[in-house]
Amino acid sequence: MSASPTQPLAAGPDLLELPAGGCLQGRVRVQGDKSISHRALLFGAIAEGETLIEGLLPAEDPLSTAACLRAMGVEVGPIVAGQPVRVQGVGLDGLQEPETVLDCGNSGTTMRLMLGLLVGRAGRHFVLSGDGSLRRRPMARVALPLAKMGAQIHGRQGGNLAPLAVQGQALVGATIRTPVASAQVKSALLLAALTAEGPTTVIEPAHSRDHSERMLRAFGADLELMAADGTEVRVRPGAVLRGQSVVVPGDISSAAFWLVAAAITPGSELTIENVGLNPSRTGILDVLAAMGARVSLENSRDVAGEPVGDLVVRHGPLRAFTIGEALIPRLVDEIPVLAVAACCAEGVSRITGAAELRVKETDRLAVMARQLQALGAAIEEHPDGLTITGPTRLRGADTDSETDHRVAMSLAVAALVADGPTRLGRPEAAAVSYPDFWQDLARLRH
Ligand code: S3P
Repeated sequence: MSASPTQPLAAGPDLLELPAGGCLQGRVRVQGDKSISHRALLFGAIAEGETLIEGLLPAEDPLSTAACLRAMGVEVGPIVAGQPVRVQGVGLDGLQEPETVLDCGNSGTTMRLMLGLLVGRAGRHFVLSGDGSLRRRPMARVALPLAKMGAQIHGRQGGNLAPLAVQGQALVGATIRTPVASAQVKSALLLAALTAEGPTTVIEPAHSRDHSERMLRAFGADLELMAADGTEVRVRPGAVLRGQSVVVPGDISSAAFWLVAAAITPGSELTIENVGLNPSRTGILDVLAAMGARVSLENSRDVAGEPVGDLVVRHGPLRAFTIGEALIPRLVDEIPVLAVAACCAEGVSRITGAAELRVKETDRLAVMARQLQALGAAIEEHPDGLTITGPTRLRGADTDSETDHRVAMSLAVAALVADGPTRLGRPEAAAVSYPDFWQDLARLRH
């Protein structure tokens, strides 16, 4: 069965038919930033008093964080799209020992930040687990640096894999060089540092997203940037965190699908409203500019300590791009959809220094190479990246998200420019970060 461009998408329980053809027109307001949503819930939980969160992302990942917090006695109000969420803070040491396993679902951010939060809860025991994907993801990158502060974390394969057991301890501050530029690792350490004895300094090999630093400061933490490039952060314990009003900007990692979709689909013009433009996240805009994409910024403003703006994107000719290791932290989640953009760009696009993608929700280098090859792309996988030759006329085929939300949405973007319909297995994965994606696609497609 194939539908005309204006018909709604045909959804089966597990399989979605994506018709070919059509263009994208209109306005879209992507939902709240996933990274900021997790942090607003977590910091609200350990603050004194109430935190009111506007624009919290009502997707599976933040719901996992909220469920874990509730299991430890934190009152988190209902999470419903368009309604502010109230969190009644229990204070820095108020989290109760949960009666059962804390289920982090598919969410690496939940598990890693939660580890940082729980290791210092002396005398309490916690077990964290998650779905099949999360139980395969490396946790030693958090557990080993936390151990330098006295944390006790046990898990499968020497403590690297969940389920993980945490025996809360009194921690000591330390100076820690993290092995990878990862905001999840950095944030776990900053959270542990809040109640350690003495200051903690975290030094990263490259600057990762800094939402934790910004928001912890806004909550009243004693946090200082020690290097101008943001790679060294010091926390002194003792400050009381106070509940805040948090406004969560739209997620640029969700906007990325529309940016690429409109840039590659003839006849398209989209306005994406309220996009978070924190410089540690805007690598995709740099790449699109280098490709010659027609993207402009309107209405740029500051919302609760984060830069925000509206992005207007139009279809046009695109050139190939090169992305090296230095840029990866600023667009780590956008590589799958940029691989789709590369299929439509003139020349050879090269992505290197991106081995981190192999330990995301899936091995995104392998999965994107496999799935885009099914659509006829000229894409080669390397140990740390991808090489893509374009432009290629993609052809509709059977594809699969392999349970990865960003793969699901990237393949939907590729299907827009394929000849003939594409069938996508396991499209429901998109709900991990963007529950309205399929509705937005049906509405914007003409
Ligand atoms: C996130 C950081 C990134 C990113 C993830 C969310 C965060 O992971 O891929 O989707 O909220 O801190 P790493 O910090 O491990 O690169």
